[in-house]
Amino acid sequence: MCTDVMDIYQVVTRRRSIRKYKADMVPKPLILRVLAAANWAPSGMNEQPWEFAVVAGEKLAALQRVCKEVIDVRMPPETRTEEQKEFAKWYGTLGGAPLAIVQICNRETDAGRRKMVLESMAASFQNLLLAATAEHLGTCWMTGPLLKEQDILALFALPATKEIAALTPLGYPDESPRPVPRKDAELAQKVLWFDVEE
Ligand SMILES: Cc1cc2nc3c(=O)[nH]c(=O)nc-3n(C[C@H](O)[C@H](O)[C@H](O)COP(=O)(O)O)c2cc1C
Repeated sequence: MCTDVMDIYQVVTRRRSIRKYKADMVPKPLILRVLAAANWAPSGMNEQPWEFAVVAGEKLAALQRVCKEVIDVRMPPETRTEEQKEFAKWYGTLGGAPLAIVQICNRETDAGRRKMVLESMAASFQNLLLAATAEHLGTCWMTGPLLKEQDILALFALPATKEIAALTPLGYPDESPRPVPRKDAELAQKVLWFDVEE
């Protein structure tokens, strides 16, 4: 068991998108801990609009098949570079993770409400990713598979009134990717200061 306890800034900076996982299953109490963190997110009008599907086994294999179909559309197999072949493998296997978590909400038609709900969903998903990092678990926020969102809804017998906001594999990392450099790390360009004293 890893006992390295991280503070919030370490968690934020150590989170990486993990695209290669060990096959070991994550214990259910640990899955529930990261989902509880997701459930503690702020939400517009306190609607707490998120629901989750925790997916393993046959359903995970079916989800991987949908992701493979997506990547076959995005990167046609006959013209793939070596790098794209690796990326396609990641999609088709979800990196070998034993689990995926799919985040679901009601599909909003009003533009204002949709923005509010999807921002609440993102807050919750980031909580999930950060909690997973604190538990030394790997994740990768994914919206690419939503090209086939209807197929994913069908996989879980969800009606068209539902929307999938994002999904992530969940498991123990089998790679340690380098941090992706931050644009404007010193925040010289990205921040406008108004009447703020040194
Ligand atoms: C909204 C969103 C959607 C993403 N969708 C995908 C995706 O479909 N496939 C993928 O491999 N990575 C996806 N990513 C991960 C990004 O590529 C990754 O966060 C970015 O390259 C920075 O790397 P880092 O997460 O390790 O800091 C997504 C990230 C976000 C926030």
